[in-house]
Amino acid sequence: MVYRLCPSILAADFNRLGEQIRTLEEAGAKWLHIDVMDGDFVPSISFGMPVIKSIRKESGMFFDVHLMVMAPERYIQDFVRCGADSITVHAEACDDLEQAIELIRDAGVRVGISIKPATPVNDISHLLRDVDHVLVMTVQPGFGGQKYMDECTEKIRELRELIEEEDLDVDIQVDGGINDETLETVIEAGANLIVAGSYVFRGDLGENVRHIRRKMEKMGGETD
Ligand code: DX5
Ligand code: ZN
Repeated sequence: MVYRLCPSILAADFNRLGEQIRTLEEAGAKWLHIDVMDGDFVPSISFGMPVIKSIRKESGMFFDVHLMVMAPERYIQDFVRCGADSITVHAEACDDLEQAIELIRDAGVRVGISIKPATPVNDISHLLRDVDHVLVMTVQPGFGGQKYMDECTEKIRELRELIEEEDLDVDIQVDGGINDETLETVIEAGANLIVAGSYVFRGDLGENVRHIRRKMEKMGGETD
């Protein structure tokens, strides 16, 4: 299994965003998790296209855009134009999730779908063949720095079983409350794309990335 760390810039110091992204990249992080919030699907508002467009100019990282936005179908093309390499939409935010998946696929980027803690795996299991990853939220979406919700571990396990049973090539991403302890929990349950905000953007960013990557390797995965 290939494990990937996806640092979330929601926890960055926006006054030094470019510099911090460079530090992550130099320390070996390949993916950058970019949280877009609309103040409607979630209570808070983060940032949008101009920020992504601007950081795209200087970064070669894989831009993993997580849309916490109602009716995200409206913006797929825009985010691809700004530099998204992957777009994740929420099952709860789309009227027609299958159509949203198709739009992302047609736009030529990687396709992700996400479920909030209260949404069962069953709601999206019929779409596993159509996506590249499923993002299992392990906190209520909307804010960084929250505590991992233990009840979500079972959903990761259930999803990994389904993927293995059907022999599918689908990654499981987790997002929210990841730290030294919960990293082991989610990997053990079957997650392989690990989003981390405060875990990475606290203290020495480069050292944090190297520490997490070493830890993932010790757990038996290759890091990418
Ligand atoms: C929350 C966002 C997360 C957030 C995670 O809605 O989707 O990506 O940055 O932050 P931590 O890792 O601090 O829980
Ligand atoms: Zn996120």
